[in-house]
Amino acid sequence: MKAISLGGRKSGRGGTLHVLGSDLAARIEAGETLLSAAVRGNIPFPHMCNVGECGTCKCRLVTGHIRLKRDISRHVTPEELSAGFVLACQSLAMSEDVAVEVPGMGRGRSTDPAPVQIDASVARVTPLAPGVLALEVDLAAEVRYVAGQVAQLTVPGAPGLGEPRCYSFAEAPARASPRRALFHVRHVPGGAFTDWLFAADRTGARLCFSGPHGGFRYHAADRPLLCVAGGTGLSPIKAILEQGIADGLACDVTLVVGARTQQDLYALDAITSLKERWRGRFAFVPVLSQEPEGSRWTGRKGHVTDYLCEVAAGHADRAAYVCGPPGMIDAVLDVLRGVIPPKHLHYDRFLDRGSAALGPSSAA
Ligand code: FES
Repeated sequence: MKAISLGGRKSGRGGTLHVLGSDLAARIEAGETLLSAAVRGNIPFPHMCNVGECGTCKCRLVTGHIRLKRDISRHVTPEELSAGFVLACQSLAMSEDVAVEVPGMGRGRSTDPAPVQIDASVARVTPLAPGVLALEVDLAAEVRYVAGQVAQLTVPGAPGLGEPRCYSFAEAPARASPRRALFHVRHVPGGAFTDWLFAADRTGARLCFSGPHGGFRYHAADRPLLCVAGGTGLSPIKAILEQGIADGLACDVTLVVGARTQQDLYALDAITSLKERWRGRFAFVPVLSQEPEGSRWTGRKGHVTDYLCEVAAGHADRAAYVCGPPGMIDAVLDVLRGVIPPKHLHYDRFLDRGSAALGPSSAA
């Protein structure tokens, strides 16, 4: 059966969306996106942005027909498209029944912790750098997640703050308290949530927590690691490296962090702690793109891609984890694709009001 039809006609009737290898299924209406049907049917389908920007909802269409809403080539190569890979949020059902394979889901149940929606409150807010806060949140129940995943936060009852904002967990799940979660939050001027958070002391404020979500996560693998972070993209990378320490990884790791100036480099104590606890060789490479001439900075200047272009060939045996704003991710992927095999190249785009025209699950 030809799985993907770019110009097909709707069947006119709804049908069923099946997640192969599991007992998960949901009603799907004709012309509805696969992701919309999955979410409505309480299938814990990995997703973040809903608008084709993050790539989290990539799955493989095995049976049925879909029509793509937009070009998905940024996340799906022509070879992958031929093999049936699509973005669930950009795939409209054109046949009654559709079956997909979803990475991380299968064998009767999702292998991911199931997302929960629970009450939460602001426990503590700590400045990390200009325009960046550590946000600690008390949770009404224990929450399980995989390092690299995200949670959605809303402020109930506050005008304009009901739209979910996605933030990565900034600690490995084996944290001190399973009822507390830590996030790094960058202020996005004009972003309702961060304008609210940065405007006053919000300790004790009520939040609504939903999570975990997202397909970016730690994969236990016996390969050296190349981690690349831009801005608060450091938060999931930190969680992943903490998980590697908890798992006793002894491979080499190179952590490349891009920032504008020295002031914008944050969590340096946490990086030093990671370096001290890591069992293998740990190289930390900060790269500053806008450090003023004449400063005392003796480290690298330029963009992270300048550094990666120099070293990529020597890192072909690595598993890469890349997290940051979309422009940085695209530039880094341009360097690393063709060097690191796709199955070892993991990335997460941080989306905000300044980086894309977004749907309801974006960060701001
Ligand atoms: Fe589909 Fe982001 S690309 S949820």
